Amino acid sequence: MIRPTTSRDMTTLNVLLLFPIMGLALGWLPVEDWESGNVTTSGGALECVCSVFLPDSIFPADRVQHMQQVTTDLRLEVEIQMNKLVHYGGKLDVFLAELTELTVRVAMLQSSADNYIKLDFEMLRIELREFEALVSQLRDSLNSSSPLFDSLYTEIRNMTLIVNQLENYDKNNLDVIRIEFAKLQRKLEECQKEEEIFKPDVGNCNHTGIMSFSKPTVIQVNAHLNPGYQYGGWGKDSKPVRGFESMYWYGAYSRPNVYEFYLYSSYDKLIQRSSFTHHGLPQGYEGTGNNYVVHGNTIYYQAANPFRMSKLNLTSSVYSHSQMSKASERFTYTYSPSQYLDFSADEKGLWVIYATEEGKGKMVIAKIDEKSFGIEDEWNTNSYKPRVGNAFMVCGVMYATRPKDLNTEEIYYAYDTKTKEEKYMSIPLQKFQEKIINLHYNPTDQRLYMYNNGYYVSYNVRFNKE
Ligand SMILES: *[C@@H]1O[C@H](CO)[C@@H](O)[C@H](O)[C@H]1NC(C)=O
Ligand SMILES: *[C@@H]1O[C@H](CO)[C@@H](O)[C@H](O)[C@H]1NC(C)=O
Ligand SMILES: *[C@@H]1O[C@H](CO)[C@@H](O)[C@H](O)[C@H]1NC(C)=O
Ligand SMILES: *[C@@H]1O[C@H](CO)[C@@H](O)[C@H](O)[C@H]1NC(C)=O
Repeated sequence: MIRPTTSRDMTTLNVLLLFPIMGLALGWLPVEDWESGNVTTSGGALECVCSVFLPDSIFPADRVQHMQQVTTDLRLEVEIQMNKLVHYGGKLDVFLAELTELTVRVAMLQSSADNYIKLDFEMLRIELREFEALVSQLRDSLNSSSPLFDSLYTEIRNMTLIVNQLENYDKNNLDVIRIEFAKLQRKLEECQKEEEIFKPDVGNCNHTGIMSFSKPTVIQVNAHLNPGYQYGGWGKDSKPVRGFESMYWYGAYSRPNVYEFYLYSSYDKLIQRSSFTHHGLPQGYEGTGNNYVVHGNTIYYQAANPFRMSKLNLTSSVYSHSQMSKASERFTYTYSPSQYLDFSADEKGLWVIYATEEGKGKMVIAKIDEKSFGIEDEWNTNSYKPRVGNAFMVCGVMYATRPKDLNTEEIYYAYDTKTKEEKYMSIPLQKFQEKIINLHYNPTDQRLYMYNNGYYVSYNVRFNKE
């Protein structure tokens, strides 16, 4: 069933697939907030609607017919691949097959001289790089040195070359390729999700702390498609207001300065980089440090000058500020300057973590009273902030990380605000790239969100149950 629809800002093609085997289909369930995704069960078979988005603002009518053909091809292709999954249980050869197919399409476009459309080659190149990173990520997470991955790499490199050649011709409709990329990207994500069946027990703090983290899920490079935008953050509202349950947020810049935030109505919109609104911070309200979070439709961030904690209420667009007399401007985390205030939200509410002069750089946890926007309580820890990569709160417990090696961060310290007890530990957090700028937990899905050298990365958190 194919339904091409055209709207002002986007074209959506829905592909309906039938999954005969339920166990297999589990890994393909769209995440709950995928806007157009919908899952139904009937007679033991699962139906899953997958969507492919074309980030195309003007969709010429003469191309619709062509697109329909492409869509039919896509459906067939996906079905063939699903069959492969069913029969061989392998997933890697699927990617390889797609890549080969993609190469064929590039060649086809090379030879066809009609229906040109202006194309952003730089963006395509970035997507290729991103895809390469995802394949590498996947290879690591599957712990495989399979020749299939090597072939994938070769294919990607080859395609980069071809794209460069195409650019010289200054021709072509490469939107078709963009569909393939979107599809591949999602497949990779799904494959990563498939790695584990994760059942969050949202809101429950009846556990004895973090046991481990899943392998990282690398979603994609930031919405500016600029890996140079190293300083930023992304995530979901940790206490969403009604109607904004699936909202995602993002902000980044090439320096630690905080100038703007983008909001997305769903996960798909985030992936498509299609924000429903954007907030540019007016002069005098700019922030720094990038350890912001969104809680109750309000962004909590560190204001740059004067130094203070600030919030922007996204409902009313009103800014408020609160002085931080004890927080020092001398101690920042390892990976970035200016990180003096680290906001965090968990099952217990809203927190800010900082270091003080009197504590000689040791971290202090403060509970924020949301109504008064003041500090209601404080706890002194023995974690020396300059050695810490980042920190976050889960169920009233602060966890601090430190770099272990280029690809591993470790949770090395925990402080429980309820018992006032501290604990040293070593829980590895596999990193995609070195620098962690924004790291926080979200109690609504029990996931950890990381901004890692310009990439969106997330983890499932597993807890110790006794
Ligand atoms: C990864 O692969 C190596 C070598 O094949 C093996 O020794 C190791 O146990 C594997 N690790 C995991 C987590 O599967
Ligand atoms: C790379 O592309 C060229 C055509 O541009 C093709 O002849 C060659 O076989 C491709 N190599 C691989 C490994 O896909
Ligand atoms: C918490 O877990 C313990 C042990 O599993 C159980 O006995 C207890 O009833 C649980 N309490 C709540 C409130 O879920
Ligand atoms: C944000 O503004 C709305 C509307 O004025 C208000 O109802 C809400 O309580 C505010 N939220 C915060 C966290 O200040």
